[in-house]
Amino acid sequence: MAEAFTVSKYDPFARLLHWLIVVLVTAQYVVGWTMPDIHRGTQPVGLIDIHLELGVSIIAVMIVRAVWRFVRKEPDVVDGSAWARAVAYLTHGLLYLLLIVQPLMGWANASSRGWRITVFGVELPSLAPTGSTIGHALGDVHGVLAWVMLGLIGLHVAAALYHHFLLRDGVLRRMA
Ligand code: HEM
Ligand code: HEM
Repeated sequence: MAEAFTVSKYDPFARLLHWLIVVLVTAQYVVGWTMPDIHRGTQPVGLIDIHLELGVSIIAVMIVRAVWRFVRKEPDVVDGSAWARAVAYLTHGLLYLLLIVQPLMGWANASSRGWRITVFGVELPSLAPTGSTIGHALGDVHGVLAWVMLGLIGLHVAAALYHHFLLRDGVLRRMA
């Protein structure tokens, strides 16, 4: 009885931003885990430079996305038990939060290493003093939160596939 469900979609811009983030974040994990080990005096070149640029793009896209979501609201929720909707809200909220906070910690770590972050030749502010303990510590938190976020993404993708293949309620089509 799939036709019994009328599913409202996310608007095209929200869908574009969602899939853009999927591509950027996937690339970011691959780069983050294949770039050379970083030691005192390592220069931000090659894959490390790509990691910084992708990371800043992720922050920028997430800010646009958060503003857009605030302005446009999400489409009406699909029916489901109260707890399932609560878990979905919580997961989405945490993903938004982590996708902004986690890269900011990487940036603080980069600042503490004395690396300059530039976008189109414009230098962005330093988030931690060079050589600072806090900037160093936030780099460790950045690595740990990458795993936490990966767990949430796994849960999120599993839920999307569960809706699509088992519940067949059109939730995946809202974002497709
Ligand atoms: C969603 C965005 C991001 C993800 C998923 C991500 C992921 C990762 C991962 C998986 C690592 C390797 C950690 C390890 O092996 O322990 C890493 C390291 C690092 N990332 Fe990111 N990153 C992101 C954004 C950023 C941004 C925006 C910056 C800076 C502007 C940044 C700077 C760094 C630095 C400096 C390291 C090395 C930290 C260290 O070894 O002390 N990252 N990141
Ligand atoms: C890096 C990976 C991903 C991240 C960070 C991510 C993040 C998010 C976020 C934050 C939302 C909430 C959107 C909003 O309310 O504005 C969302 C919704 C959604 N995502 Fe993802 N997503 C990822 C991958 C995927 C994949 C691979 C799929 C499909 C298999 C998917 C399917 C969906 C669907 C169907 C929704 C709408 C859920 C609903 O209508 O309640 N996502 N995603």
